[in-house]
Formats: sequence, C-alpha cells, structure tokens
Amino acid sequence: MSAEKVEIFDTTLRDGEQVPGCKLNTAQKLKIAARLDELGVDVIEAGFPVSSPGDFQSVTEISKIAKNAAVCGLTRAVKKDIEVAAEALKYAKKPRIHTGIGTSDSHIKYKFNATPEQIIERAVEAVAYAKNFADDVEFYAEDAGRTDNAFLAQVCQEVVNAGATVLNIPDTTGYCLPEEYGKKIKYLKDHVAGIDNVIISCHCHNDLGLATANAIAGVANGARQIECTINGIGERAGNTALEEVVMILRQHPTLNLNTDINPKLLFELSKMVSREMGMFVQPNKAIVGANAFAHSSGIHQDGVIKNRETYEIIDPADVGVTESAIVLTARSGRAALAYKAKKVGYNLTKLELDAVYTEFLNYADMKKEVLDEDIHEIMAISKKKIKA
Ligand code: KIV
Ligand code: ZN
Repeated sequence: MSAEKVEIFDTTLRDGEQVPGCKLNTAQKLKIAARLDELGVDVIEAGFPVSSPGDFQSVTEISKIAKNAAVCGLTRAVKKDIEVAAEALKYAKKPRIHTGIGTSDSHIKYKFNATPEQIIERAVEAVAYAKNFADDVEFYAEDAGRTDNAFLAQVCQEVVNAGATVLNIPDTTGYCLPEEYGKKIKYLKDHVAGIDNVIISCHCHNDLGLATANAIAGVANGARQIECTINGIGERAGNTALEEVVMILRQHPTLNLNTDINPKLLFELSKMVSREMGMFVQPNKAIVGANAFAHSSGIHQDGVIKNRETYEIIDPADVGVTESAIVLTARSGRAALAYKAKKVGYNLTKLELDAVYTEFLNYADMKKEVLDEDIHEIMAISKKKIKA
C-alpha cells in the first residue's frame, strides 16, 4: 500500500513570529516564505492580516510570490478580520482563510462570556462568511485540547456543514498527552458526518514538551495535516517543529505516511530563521541543533568512526548537514584522536598514538573542547617530551 500524504502547514511566519523579539519585517518574511515554498510546504500561514498594516502587507506580498504553496491568513470569527484577510490574499494562487473561535469551557466563559450555542453560531457564521471569499476555509477550534470531545464534535459537524475544508484541532495550551490527543482525533473521525471529505489538522503547542509527539499521535489516528514551525518556535514553549515531524515520518516507514518536504534544505532554513529572528537554536535541538550529529564520548566516537549507523539514525547529509562531527574532549578515546589527527595531517602509529594520547588527556582536562589547532600543539609538546 502506498504511503498517504500528510500536508505540512508552516506557521513560522504567524504563530512563530508571535514570539517576543522575533518580529520580522516584510522583506525578511518574504525571504523566509520563498525558502518555505522551495522546501515543499503545502501551506504558508503568512500572518494575521487585520493585526497590523505591516502584517497585511506581508501577507499580500507573500501571496504574490508563492509558487506552489497555498497562502493562508489568520482571522478571528469576526467579519472585518475575514474581509481584511481576503483582501490580503487576493493575489494568492491558492488562498486559504483560517478562521475560528475558542471552544473550551474556559474560553467560552472567560474570553467570550458566551454560551456554547452562541459559540457554534459564531463559528458557523464565520465559516459561511469566509466561503464568500475563498473555497479553501480552515476552521480552528481554539483550545480544542481542553474541549470536551462531544462538544468539539458538535462544533466540527456544524462548520463542516457550513463548508469548512480543513478542521484544525489545536492543543493551544500544550496540555494533552499523545494518547489523549490521538483519541480526540479518532473521536472526531467517528462522530462527525462527512469528516472524510475534509482534512483534519494537528496544531500542537509544546508546554509539556509533547508538541511533536501529539502531532504524530494525531496523524497516526487519521489527521492529514500538521501545523508546525521551523525550529519549533512559537508562543511560550513553542509549536511542533517542522523538521522533527518530517524526519519522524521519513524514518518510520511503518507509519505509511509521507510529506513533500525536501529534507536536504532543513538545516539551511533552520539557520536562516534563527538568524532573521535572532532566536538561537539550542545545541541539543533534534535534527538541526549544533550537536544533533556531534559525537563526543569515546565509546560513541569509536562506533561512529567504524560505522555511522552505530549511533546515528539519520544520515546528516539527508538534512543538509555536511558530515557528523567528532568532537574531541577529555571523554574521547584513542580512535577519535587518531581520526582527528589524521584529518589535520598526522598519520600516527600505534606507539605514537599511545604517547600522544597521554598528552592529549592532560590537555583536554583543561579545556571544554580540543580544537584542530590544539592538536598541532599537543603533537609539538609530545615530540619535545619524546626527544627529552
Ligand atoms: O494555538 C492556537 O490555538 C492557534 C490558533 C489561532 C490556530 O494558534
Ligand atoms: Zn498556536
């Protein structure tokens, strides 16, 4: 059976850009959007057009340049928002309006001071209104993660009847456990008539570090779109990381799901987003962190030098990283030292290696990392000692 496609909806430029200090201007957004389009994302959520003139301009300009991806603008369930989004999206080859409303008890009570019936009414009105401007209308049930499943199904049923083409089920507060989120998707599949004609989307936040796991649980239970950001940036602890879900689906063929993403562009794009947003990527970040393919302990280095597969489940070249790094530290062994020494021009015999290794350990104990230039110094010290 051939693998089913999971659409990748990138929200780096909308949910990602909401992070304090990450604000981008239109030129920066355009640069990133062009790379996202090349990467192969299915949807670029370009912004929230009614929120500011700058965001309106960004969505307009991105709409003009996107070659393959659909371009999406966020709105509240408010007519003015929808009209402004439609105007910003007017140049897009494939425009999508993303409208919605909070559906959890706390959103209904504290944000909207409304009744559940009024929420359904507003949701239906928003979707029906958006359909006047775009065929492709995605509905989000904000805080769906904490929304009662029966009520969520009722809302979804009504908006599907009103013409929604995509149902976004956000775990807005990053509260769900993967099993629970997966069951929520399955519940909707089983209880909403006509749901097989629309795409269910996972939009997960990372407050408990489960954004990626929840998105995967969602697609394993029938969702066919994941909303994510480069480097997992986003409100508070962030969103599902695009590079993680793409590589999980690639590395686990038994899930029988794939995406159209070209993973070779991931590392470069991660660096671009980090640079443009001024948002540092933690070194141990999966797939794109500086240490994602770096090996520093002797046991691991020995294995990787013999065969990369001993400690790597992904070929770094697959995600655009030139090669795995062997980092010399005081935990490194002889194999790593010989390997790195050879790279900088020293082909050591076993006896020479023994002598240099003792010197290396003394040196390494004083430093966090032994660099290529340090190897020359260690060789010189070692030579002097042998002569003396
Ligand atoms: O997290 C969320 O619920 C959102 C919606 C606006 C889609 O970002
Ligand atoms: Zn979000």
